Amino acid sequence: MSATGQAKASTPPDIAARKGKTPLVCLTAYTTPVARLLDRHCDVVLVGDSVGMVLHGLPSTLGVTLEMMIMHGQAVRRGLERALMVVDMPFGSYEEGPEQAFRNAARVMAETGSTAVKLEGGETMAETIRFLTGRGVPVMAHVGLTPQAVHAFGGYRVQGRGEDAERIRRDALAVAEAGAFAVVLEKVPELLARRITEEIAIPTIGIGASPACDGQVLVVDDMLGLFGDFRPKFVKRYAELGQVAEAAIATYAREVRERRFPAAEHVFGDEPRTVTAGEAA
Ligand code: KIV
Repeated sequence: MSATGQAKASTPPDIAARKGKTPLVCLTAYTTPVARLLDRHCDVVLVGDSVGMVLHGLPSTLGVTLEMMIMHGQAVRRGLERALMVVDMPFGSYEEGPEQAFRNAARVMAETGSTAVKLEGGETMAETIRFLTGRGVPVMAHVGLTPQAVHAFGGYRVQGRGEDAERIRRDALAVAEAGAFAVVLEKVPELLARRITEEIAIPTIGIGASPACDGQVLVVDDMLGLFGDFRPKFVKRYAELGQVAEAAIATYAREVRERRFPAAEHVFGDEPRTVTAGEAA
């Protein structure tokens, strides 16, 4: 039994049925060991295209390829037993139209074992979402600040303030109506997030969208303090692992220079002896 109280793997209908109930817990993962850490605690594990910025040092998510998503998806799959796995469709892999989106989503699902895909966009993506969901591809939608459109937005700005709220509301209604099983709401004001959450039938998963949502998602490296000095308002740092790692690396460097590492216990002797677990003679 996992910390989420689930004995079996989550499915998109399980996630959709959590609307208005205990908030959904979602984090990103890009590797097997991190997926293993998340599996007991998360309802949804997202292989986000944030991988491009977080692990590959890209300036935005725009340079992320389908091959990168498939490789990281395969790694995450090996670490999950219970949480629902969702893989992001990268920029350029679905926007041409429903057929392109289906071809690439089918490839992602077949090659990674992912249960669902996520794609960015509201009204303009509704037809594609309907096409995919009608052909066995569960879709998590993503509206509000959609990072793949960063240049069109002129930066990573809050979306849906004032009169712009109606645009985001229409986007959320459109993706829910098109058959998405959940929708990520990114960087929108609390009142709008509350209104959308009350109005649509599928769970809203917020990132910078207030506790009014049906669940929350964060980039795991952000909340663990592993992604440098990136400190946006909506991220709570639950640990400072970057600082812990830096201190450990500094100690290692000093001990190597002072010949204090390796110490006697790390050195192999001439005498053959019984090999203990995890040790090669
Ligand atoms: O790519 C990503 O990690 C995401 C989440 C932050 C929602 O899309």
